[in-house]
Amino acid sequence: MTSFCSDNHKSAQQPALIDDFHRNIDYVRLAVTADCNLRCSYCMREEHEEHSSRADLLTTEEIHTIIKVVAEQGITKLRLTGGEPLLQRDIVEIVRRAKKLPNIQTVNLTTNGLLLSQLLQQLIDAGLDSINISIDTLRRDRYKTITRRDAFERAKANLMMLLERKSLPVKLNMVVIKRINSDELEDFVALTHDYPLTVRFIELQPFDDNQIWRTGQFLGADKIQEILTEAYPEMLVLKSSATQNFTFSLPNHQGQVAIIPAYTRNFCHDCNKIRITSSGKIISCLYGKEGIELLPLLRSGASNEAIAALFRKAVALKPENGKHAASNGVRTSMSEIGG
Ligand code: 5AD
Ligand code: SF4
Repeated sequence: MTSFCSDNHKSAQQPALIDDFHRNIDYVRLAVTADCNLRCSYCMREEHEEHSSRADLLTTEEIHTIIKVVAEQGITKLRLTGGEPLLQRDIVEIVRRAKKLPNIQTVNLTTNGLLLSQLLQQLIDAGLDSINISIDTLRRDRYKTITRRDAFERAKANLMMLLERKSLPVKLNMVVIKRINSDELEDFVALTHDYPLTVRFIELQPFDDNQIWRTGQFLGADKIQEILTEAYPEMLVLKSSATQNFTFSLPNHQGQVAIIPAYTRNFCHDCNKIRITSSGKIISCLYGKEGIELLPLLRSGASNEAIAALFRKAVALKPENGKHAASNGVRTSMSEIGG
């Protein structure tokens, strides 16, 4: 009863999660599963452990409770990630229920696209706002090398279906790796001629299990920008954002191209997000070592207010500058936290 009253009280007050450094935390990235149908070499090992027991993963009901609680605390933007989020069997329902929450303005998805042919229409009907699709190469042999799965035809067909439908804003994430796919930048840029997507060239983050970034295959954002500026002297530079620090379009092209200095640039000063892992940990900062465990509280029948208090604690723990605070290589894979 008490928590019911205080919940009402909160929503009347326009809730907000503001941290000690005046950052308004209004964005949650929630990994709905750690499983994936690919094994990208920069992300996970071939033998990436499937969860030994489903018991340590968030259930659909728990996912919904979390989304409801964070929405009541002031979160307005939700991104569902993985692993591969479309492997979560209730993903459509999760989107639908999230979209019905009054404070949630946008629900977005980051996916490798392999299951989109089955699910796209249902996701659109459920109210999904946009899709980020991760495809690192447009060549079949390379796709197999990078992802360790022979699934290029499916990925490509689903990408084209998504682009042809023109029903959702699409961003295409391409992680640039020297000597693997760095000669394909122009092929990706060419996609923006006919389709209004944003192609995003992303720096490799040092979180990969195989430590590819130690092998001289890292290509920095500055270098990517140099290559593109030389290739496209006619480019029109557009206004950028904190994450996409260089954005441009080409004359008579419908889409845009952006560079994401995921590793070299520090976004901490206007970081507005927290992450939740598929096993129910709140990660205040990508560079932090520890998460705050949600599962014990969720499963003890705690009130939503008690769960909300844990989120407020996580926000209070956000460092001013996580990258400075951490030493390199604290994470071994992005798969649990969804990038
Ligand atoms: N470096 C950069 N991006 C990564 N992703 C996964 N691991 C890494 C890494 N080590 C990306 C995926 C996807 C997003 C969710 O995170 O390719 O685009
Ligand atoms: Fe799966 Fe994404 Fe990791 Fe590739 S990068 S293995 S698609 S979670």
